[in-house]
This record gives sequence, structure tokens and C-alpha cells, in this order.
Amino acid sequence: MDATCPGFFNPPHMIGPRFSAAAETYDLHARPQLALAQSVVSILPEKVPEKILELGVGTGQLTRLLVARFPNTPIDAIDVAEKMIEHSRAKFSHLPQINWILGDAQTYGSGERYPLIVSSSALHWVSDLRATFENIFQNLKPHGTLALGMMLQGTLKELHELRQAIAPEKTPTISLPAYAEIQALLQAAGFRLERQTHDEEQVLYPDAKAFLRAIHEQGVTGGKVSAGNAPLTRTELSRLVVDYQEAYASDGGVHATYETATFLLTKRESKRTPPRGLQGCSC
Ligand SMILES: C[S@@+](CC[C@H](N)C(=O)[O-])C[C@H]1O[C@@H](n2cnc3c(N)ncnc32)[C@H](O)[C@@H]1O
Repeated sequence: MDATCPGFFNPPHMIGPRFSAAAETYDLHARPQLALAQSVVSILPEKVPEKILELGVGTGQLTRLLVARFPNTPIDAIDVAEKMIEHSRAKFSHLPQINWILGDAQTYGSGERYPLIVSSSALHWVSDLRATFENIFQNLKPHGTLALGMMLQGTLKELHELRQAIAPEKTPTISLPAYAEIQALLQAAGFRLERQTHDEEQVLYPDAKAFLRAIHEQGVTGGKVSAGNAPLTRTELSRLVVDYQEAYASDGGVHATYETATFLLTKRESKRTPPRGLQGCSC
């Protein structure tokens, strides 16, 4: 197992290759991401949109659900990892309504304004969340909708604790965004919050080795959720497996926490409108 992948804070050209490497195996190990994608679809408005922009499509877990929900709606599907785009374009070649595009969610813009933009388990990877939300705001039509699923700070907290105990000098200095931070950035970008959910779930794995393999296959090991500023040695890695097995045993396996949130937002008419923002939440 490779615990040496580049960090979350690296620019997208570094993120892309890591996700490209995980393209073939991602779906087998991405149950938490599938659950989040399902939550995102469950909060979408009833109205059929004329077009959808999806950001960070990966292997198309959310895309597949969007097609089931809106079978006749064209989708522009963006990912920064070339191999993910190739993999998904081939996998979904029977669905000509999907336009697979290599691009960065932080800067992507074709001049087109979309009535619906969606993203799940992807935007916590961008290097500048503020710029990304501002860019999404620009890409939305007035009164358009953004539906977002995000992995948050508490994700894989058990792994963080153990890494801290085993190799404190190699602890990641950057963490996933916190719930309040995302709310504030969305509000600052000009969105009005319509609905939100916030969950913490413990996912069960057969054993510590299977867990570490699963997060590696999700392309997650190198992200800010688990990578340190230096690789663990073979000895440290072996200790991590043994200690994880002991410390986080549950129901015949081991558990790992995933903290997630979904947000349903609309583009306010003008950023100059008095900032009702998140106060307008109806949840
Ligand atoms: C964990 S996968 C999630 C894929 C899918 N949305 C799902 O729900 O399973 C994250 C994806 O986001 C992509 N990604 C990361 N940063 C990105 C960026 N700045 N712009 C576009 N895609 C990005 C990665 O390449 C990867 O394919």
C-alpha cells in the first residue's frame, strides 16, 4: 500500500494523476461516496432542468443517478483527471446526452450559464474553495440551483488520531473543510441556502488492511484526509495496521467515520441584495 501520495493542497495537476490511477477500482470501494451522491440527488428540486453541469464526476456515480432522475437532460460532466474522463466516457458511451470534459472546477467556464450545477465528494479536493464557489456562482443562471455533497473535517478521524500517535512529525497540516467554514464561504459567494443536511456515519470494514486498501482505492489516501507531509515507513505502516485493528474494532471488523454535508442553494438575484444568505434556510 502506498501512503505517500501527494497532498490535498497540491494543485489540480497533482490531484488528477492520483484519481486517474484509481479510476478502475474506485467504485468497488466508494460506498460512502455513493451514499453521499444519493443524498445529493434526494434534495434536488422536482423541476426538470434544461441542462446540468456536474463538477468532479470521477467514475460517474452521481452522473448515473442524475441520468436516472432526469433521463432527457444533457449533462456537461467535468473532471480534472484525464483517466477518469476517459474511463467514464467509455463506460457511459451508451448515454450520448453526457458531454465528458477535462477541466478544473475552480476555473471552468465556457460562457454558458446553467440552471442546475451539482457536485458530490469532489469539491473538498480543490485548492481554493472560495474561488471555486465564486466560479460556480458565475456559471449559474440567475435563480439557478447548486446541489452539493461534501466530505468534512471529521472524515477518517480515527486514522488521523493513530497517525498522530505513531508519527506526530508526519501529521497532515491541512484538514478537510469544517461545516461552518463551507456555510460561510457559500454565503460570501452570494448563495441563498434552501436546505442542508449534516451527518456523521461509521462505516464498517472487514479489517484494518481492507480499510486502508479501500481508502487507497478511492484515491483518498494521499488527500488531506490522510496524507502526512512525509511518507510513513514500512514499520510505521505495519504498526498503523495493528493499532487500527485493536483500537477501532467493531462488530467483527473495524470502523471509520465519515462526516458529510449536503447543501441545496440558489443564486440570489444580485450580490448587492441585503445578505439574507444562510438566514433564509428553511430546513
Ligand atoms: C472522490 S471522487 C468523486 C467522484 C464522484 N462525484 C462520486 O460521487 O463518486 C472525486 C473526483 O473529483 C475530481 N476532482 C478533484 N479536484 C477537482 C477539480 N479541481 N476539478 C474537477 N474535478 C476535480 C477527482 O479527479 C475525482 O475524480
